[in-house]
Amino acid sequence: MGAIISCPRLGVNIDHVATIRNARGGRHPDPVRAAHQAVEAGADGITAHLREDRRHISDLDIARLKSEVTRPLNLEMAPTSEMLEIARRHVPNACCLVPERREERTTEGGLDVISGGRALQPIVSSLQDVGIRVSLFVEPDANAIDAAVDLQADIVELHTGSYCEAALIDDAEGFAREFRRIELSTKRAHDAGLEVHAGHGLTYTTVGRIAALSEVVELNIGHFLIGEALFVGLNAAISRMRIVIEEARQQAQSKSSSKVRRRREAS
Ligand code: PXP
Repeated sequence: MGAIISCPRLGVNIDHVATIRNARGGRHPDPVRAAHQAVEAGADGITAHLREDRRHISDLDIARLKSEVTRPLNLEMAPTSEMLEIARRHVPNACCLVPERREERTTEGGLDVISGGRALQPIVSSLQDVGIRVSLFVEPDANAIDAAVDLQADIVELHTGSYCEAALIDDAEGFAREFRRIELSTKRAHDAGLEVHAGHGLTYTTVGRIAALSEVVELNIGHFLIGEALFVGLNAAISRMRIVIEEARQQAQSKSSSKVRRRREAS
């Protein structure tokens, strides 16, 4: 009998369907329709970031995603009282707390869980009080992981932005260094009892090494998939991403079982 492969879940972030809709106002393209299609194509969950300036996802999108989509909703949000009230009203499956600056193009860098811990604590517990799992979007760094443990978060989502950026500019040294940081952080977080997610900037090229890390249970991917969907369709883009993820995890698992087998035979 073959070994059971534990594959990371794929959360599809549909923010940029809303970015295109908002370029002209109106209702098309509808991010909720994209979410339905993503689920049909194999998404395990839907992720959406309700930003303070509503530049993509709107309040109505969140309400519809929660009530219409059958897979878990991961709401990304800044740790503010406005967002806390919205999250407690809709009760998504999880909230991923992210830093937010108006002038940034996307979420640049992880949450300051170290000096900002005191302010985050009541938000984390208030979300957990209504049954929402809390994820903290952090840099792959030991101090950040330890702070997330102290905050009693359920999940850490490791920021893969620097790792993907190094791949983009062909910086082999930076790529190896950033990957190592992620690798060490996944182990540290997992050993401390946190569920480990990862995301930001992932593509077909960069997702494999992250998916191969056995501690990673969820990957959240948006911009690349929505961009790729322009050329091949959302269904094909998501299906291919799933295949890349599954193959990477499968290869990593069979490599590690052969290693165990060889060690047993040698002893
Ligand atoms: N995870 C988090 C916490 C994010 O803020 C984002 C971007 O909204 C993503 C994952 C997805 O990143 P990308 O759109 O680059 O795939």
